[in-house]
Amino acid sequence: DDATSGESRLDFKPVPISRADGVAVPEGYRVQVILPWGEPILGRLPAFTVDNSGEDQAMQVGSHHDGMHFFAINGCSDDGLLVINHEYVEPRLMHVSASGLKLGAEDSYLIDGRRQADDVLKEMNAHGVSVVRIRREVDGRWVTVADPRNRRITALTPMELAGPVRGSGFVTTKYSPEGTRVRGTLSNCASGATPWNTYLAAEENWALYFRNDDKKDGKPDQPREHSQYQVPRGKTHYHWELADIGDDAFVRFDASRKAPSSAEDYRNEPNAFGWMVEIDPFRPDAVPVKRTALGRFAHEGVVFAPATEGKPLVCYSGDDAIFQFIYKFVSAKPYSKADAGGHLLDDGTLYVARFNDDGTGDWLALAIGQNGLTSENGFSSQAEVLINTRAAAKHVGATRMDRPESGAVEPMTGAVYFSLTNNVKRKPDEVDQANPRAENYFGHIVRWTEEKADHAATRFRWDLFVIGGDQASGRDLTGHSLDENNLFACPDGLWFDAGGRLWIQTDISDRALNKGYYEPFGNNAMLCADPQTGEIRRFLTGPLGQEITGVTTTPDGRTMFVNVQHPGAHTSADEFAQGRLGSHWPLGGSAVPRSATLVITREDGGIVGA
Ligand code: FEO
Ligand code: CA
Ligand code: CA
Ligand code: CA
Repeated sequence: DDATSGESRLDFKPVPISRADGVAVPEGYRVQVILPWGEPILGRLPAFTVDNSGEDQAMQVGSHHDGMHFFAINGCSDDGLLVINHEYVEPRLMHVSASGLKLGAEDSYLIDGRRQADDVLKEMNAHGVSVVRIRREVDGRWVTVADPRNRRITALTPMELAGPVRGSGFVTTKYSPEGTRVRGTLSNCASGATPWNTYLAAEENWALYFRNDDKKDGKPDQPREHSQYQVPRGKTHYHWELADIGDDAFVRFDASRKAPSSAEDYRNEPNAFGWMVEIDPFRPDAVPVKRTALGRFAHEGVVFAPATEGKPLVCYSGDDAIFQFIYKFVSAKPYSKADAGGHLLDDGTLYVARFNDDGTGDWLALAIGQNGLTSENGFSSQAEVLINTRAAAKHVGATRMDRPESGAVEPMTGAVYFSLTNNVKRKPDEVDQANPRAENYFGHIVRWTEEKADHAATRFRWDLFVIGGDQASGRDLTGHSLDENNLFACPDGLWFDAGGRLWIQTDISDRALNKGYYEPFGNNAMLCADPQTGEIRRFLTGPLGQEITGVTTTPDGRTMFVNVQHPGAHTSADEFAQGRLGSHWPLGGSAVPRSATLVITREDGGIVGA
């Protein structure tokens, strides 16, 4: 009804900017916190303590909650499988020594240049994905339910590779000499749900987990499939390869050349990451599958266009790094409900977007033999194109964007919206109409409609939906300044609910929050927009140091789930060494801060946001 009345789709009172260590929602709304990091969900259900073992962590909710989807059981809105990505970890909060938490500088958990194997195991097991059955009780509260489908997928879970890269020489490893299998998933940022009711987890900042210090004639000599993704030459982010046992599963993160043949070293291990991973939450024994036809980059997430019988299946994905690109995949086979499944994602065309300054756009195919992707130009097979997606996209002339984060497809119109979170490195002479600001601190949201409303089209028309910023620089669709009800910066998560409301989540970096240029915006927040009128209101503010990630609802739209990631992450090493944690959310007192899921409902039981 609200879609056709011509009135605003938004009917809540905006919440003010917050600098408090808590969650605020509009009047008439309620919040419950569920599934914090360390909550036991399977096996012997080990209770949370900061010194849980690596084995314990494999039976508990992971850390740093991100993308999420509610899979209703039998269509119910009070019983389902909640699937949650766990993007990364905070080792400063995870390990206890004789003297207490291993506090201090980033490297302080290295002891004599080594890491304790069980600490590394715990960090690996806090990554990945949780599948948890949750149910609403008669009093309206949601509880965790013991269920055989409860599952943890981690940095160690065996997975399959599918699509054109499977079996290619780029992914042959000691672990999988045939190049068909992979250990684990990493850096799972946003997510997507397929039309056949499975989950896709994105692999975003996986490159930082590896290192490669290969040199030739004294100069750095990484293969293109490492260097274009900034695999470090020096330290890995967590030093997992320095675990004090020589286990292959740990050592693999040093991808430097150690032996003459790739089967005897770990050079191809980074090539097993940077993909979209399909997980079937209803089949706990199903092996997750990395769908290589969707390309390899810092995958933020994925969003599907509505699946139409007899038409190709289409999905969109962003590469979240400065000056990187927006992609879409179009299946070769038409979608049919009777034959829908992951195989549709293994055969098709990957395109990259060019935004022309006149408001038109083109999708450029990344297909071997097309658009100059030939062996003379360094691309000998589709596997080589896909392993080097960034290089291929650059070669065909795609538009360099201001960090493409999440996308969302408007249910009524099919318009596609994408967050461009920020890019302070863009120089004045690099500005274009789709990335209109040099030193883009605040980000913006671009949107487009495909030619003839056909998601498989190769042409589109685009405009800017909103330009983030303070009152001096932020502008909405109608050209009005943003104001105290909707000032925001650094849009990241985007999601459309069934009523056509666009939910916008912010991710001002934890190091910059509430400081300098970002002082006016307060803590990271979630806003809601009416795409028809351009109106935007702030719906939720989160605690100190966190970002808001992941959003999904029950089928009836009356219960919303939202994630709070990395509370307290703004705490400096010096503050940490003094025992200051920056946030104590959600438990308060002196508790260690923990990422967790919010359950948001209306006191009158109505649809959230309406
Ligand atoms: Fe993990 Fe691009 O946010
Ligand atoms: Ca994100
Ligand atoms: Ca982040
Ligand atoms: Ca982000």
